[in-house]
Amino acid sequence: MSMRSKLMVGNWKMNGSLTANASLVADILAGMPAVHCRAALCVPSVYLAQLQALLTASSIDLGAQDVSPHGSGAFTGEVSADMLHEFGVRYCIVGHSERRQHHAESDELVASKTQRALAAGITPIVCVGESLAEREAGQTEAVVKRQLAAVIHANGHCISEIVVAYEPIWAIGTGLTASPEQAQQVHAVLRAQLQAATAHADRVSILYGGSMNAANAAELLAQPDVDGGLIGGAALKAPDFLSMLKTASR
Ligand code: PGA
Repeated sequence: MSMRSKLMVGNWKMNGSLTANASLVADILAGMPAVHCRAALCVPSVYLAQLQALLTASSIDLGAQDVSPHGSGAFTGEVSADMLHEFGVRYCIVGHSERRQHHAESDELVASKTQRALAAGITPIVCVGESLAEREAGQTEAVVKRQLAAVIHANGHCISEIVVAYEPIWAIGTGLTASPEQAQQVHAVLRAQLQAATAHADRVSILYGGSMNAANAAELLAQPDVDGGLIGGAALKAPDFLSMLKTASR
């Protein structure tokens, strides 16, 4: 029925060490023969070279967590899309709520980062999501539509090449999860918005993120417009992450 095979992405955030990464990846790789969905790990940029080597010859794709909106030059501290591409990066998270909140990333900046990733041949995972106050004020749909509209506006027909992640801020790292119905409702809104912008909206994977775990993954992934997950905490434990990858493989 759906042409989109599930995509499960681990977001390590600012966690890891050379030793811990090697052991976590070894444990994940040991379970991969039973996994048949698409999988990726988004790691801190200093570990991209390590992960590129560890994931060679595996079916797990490499991902980054952010990208500069600039091409190259005098931007101290930034990492460009071409640099990420050189390290085999296939996916890049853009506009994660932690960056929107702590680094004041605007919708327009997120749209620029999305453009840079696409131009370098990297699939941007564009994060959208409402705060608890916005949900309680009935603004959920307006907020996510505004966030996605900026990206659609800047990227035109290329928009079918992105991945979208719906991550309600109140569900991130809190143990609170959107119910499958709440998630599907927002995913359907995002799908409709993509449909208005491209004839290929059915190709766009829309991931759910926010305390997805081994216990709740199945019912979330069963929703028609939930095409996978963006997973933080539960992706740092190999048995949990593998269990979710297997759920997504069904
Ligand atoms: P969480 O994080 O799974 O720990 O809630 C998800 C995310 O922020 O991408």
